[in-house]
Amino acid sequence: MRPPRLGVLGSGKGSNYVAIAEAVRSGSLDANIMLVASDFPDAGILTQAHAFGHHALHIPPGPFRTKMSPEAESRLVDALHDAGTDLVILAGFMRVIKEPLLRAFPNRILNIHPSLLPAFKGLEAWKQALEAGVPEAGCTVHLVDAQIDAGEILAQARVPVLPGDTAATLHARIQVEEHKIFPKVIGNYWRELQSV
Ligand code: GRF
Repeated sequence: MRPPRLGVLGSGKGSNYVAIAEAVRSGSLDANIMLVASDFPDAGILTQAHAFGHHALHIPPGPFRTKMSPEAESRLVDALHDAGTDLVILAGFMRVIKEPLLRAFPNRILNIHPSLLPAFKGLEAWKQALEAGVPEAGCTVHLVDAQIDAGEILAQARVPVLPGDTAATLHARIQVEEHKIFPKVIGNYWRELQSV
């Protein structure tokens, strides 16, 4: 089985990307990171990609706040294809994925979401969990489809909500689990795809 070629997309600090890149470096994830792309030119994920020596690319997203323009998303698809991408990894990518990307990579786009889906879809899910007063939060790796945070669930990890938790402490506890499950699920999912 050949290792998957990954294209990683992110808008933020990139701690999930770093966890994946470290798993690749240590050999616990057999994969190659071909491209790291962001909609923000100064996103931490691009700085991290430079540090790991991965190809880092800023794609100006166009005029909308919550999605890329069709032209921008098509540019992104071209860049992912040029890089030979097998799996697209959404590591904190804050824009809704539309047709150009969904059509180019059907069942090949994985996202990590900071809640136990289907609970708390959307933004700042850890805050939603805290405000709802649930005893347990967590994170979910799922396939991406046209619905938001609704594609097939591949794996989840649970964390307790502790007395005195703030949004920041709860999110930090969730992220510890994100960094463990995301690299594992990428490897497992690729093996599953190769076996069918
Ligand atoms: C994570 O909490 C992830 O669940 C969500 O966005 C955040 C990205 O964090 N989709 P980072 O940029 O990987 O640190």
